[in-house]
Amino acid sequence: KRKLLIDVDTGVDDAQSIMLALASPDVEVLGITCCHGNTKLENVLKNTLRVLKVCNRLDIPVFRGCENPLLAKRRSAADYHGADGLGEVPDPKAPSLELLQKKNAVNAMIKIAKENSGEVTLVATAPLTNLAVAVELDPSFPKHLKALYIMGGNTESRGNTTVCGEFNFVADPEAAHIVLDRFTCPISIACWEFCCMRSLPWSFVDEWFSRKTEKAKFLKEISALSMKKARSPEYEKEITAGKGFNPCDLFAMAAAVDDTFITESEQVAVTVELMGAHTRGMMVLDYMELLEKKHKTSIIKNVDSEKLKKMLLSAVM
Ligand code: BDR
Repeated sequence: KRKLLIDVDTGVDDAQSIMLALASPDVEVLGITCCHGNTKLENVLKNTLRVLKVCNRLDIPVFRGCENPLLAKRRSAADYHGADGLGEVPDPKAPSLELLQKKNAVNAMIKIAKENSGEVTLVATAPLTNLAVAVELDPSFPKHLKALYIMGGNTESRGNTTVCGEFNFVADPEAAHIVLDRFTCPISIACWEFCCMRSLPWSFVDEWFSRKTEKAKFLKEISALSMKKARSPEYEKEITAGKGFNPCDLFAMAAAVDDTFITESEQVAVTVELMGAHTRGMMVLDYMELLEKKHKTSIIKNVDSEKLKKMLLSAVM
């Protein structure tokens, strides 16, 4: 089985991706590490446990990670994911945080990677703070990973959080910079503009949520607020406007669980802008190879969308 370690800021699309991973027959989820991001860390932890409860998988270890970015001021994406990060539909019977592991997320990541050296695929759908701290703490950490899949960054300086910045990278630009510089394992990135161009048609979303299962009901409830937002006129300036739902994190997760999901990619060295007034947190692509970086990153250019739909339908069964 493919061994997965998942780093999240559970949010709506993180929840959907965890469910996708858990439904994949060839995947073993070794642990879930939590990071600040879409909402504050306490909420991320609660949300993650809620997802595991719905999937009847509270046996999967969940770890508390970084509460704040390295240097940046903490952000949230409450306007999209809701004040609690999960659509503002609280579960009075949500699992207690006592179920969390005692070890912190960063140490857990390093330990799990080393114990399964060369076999662990890390999927990061949050700001990259936990990963950056892990490589600072143990520079050999990336060498033990089989691959890293990231949702974040952008290829055309089109932002969703600042003029030129995508949320996960803008939420911790220094961490994104460190990870893209220091991780020597193969890295694949699902960038913001790419995710927008592959949004899921609303007709599919309706079919997905109409399944008569607990999981589909849960997803429908937690997604309602963000989907309402995505369908509203104020969203018209988004590239997805009118086309469908943009489930960013799912692209990184689907790519990690199925090697045949990515049908086209481009290899280029990348880094992250740390200083510009409008460009801080923007991903920079070094086509001219002026930075003389040893490692190229794989930028996802095309995927098998029909495969994603199949995975999403089985995730709610
Ligand atoms: C990313 O930001 C978050 O709001 C989503 O969960 C996704 O990881 C998209 O920019």
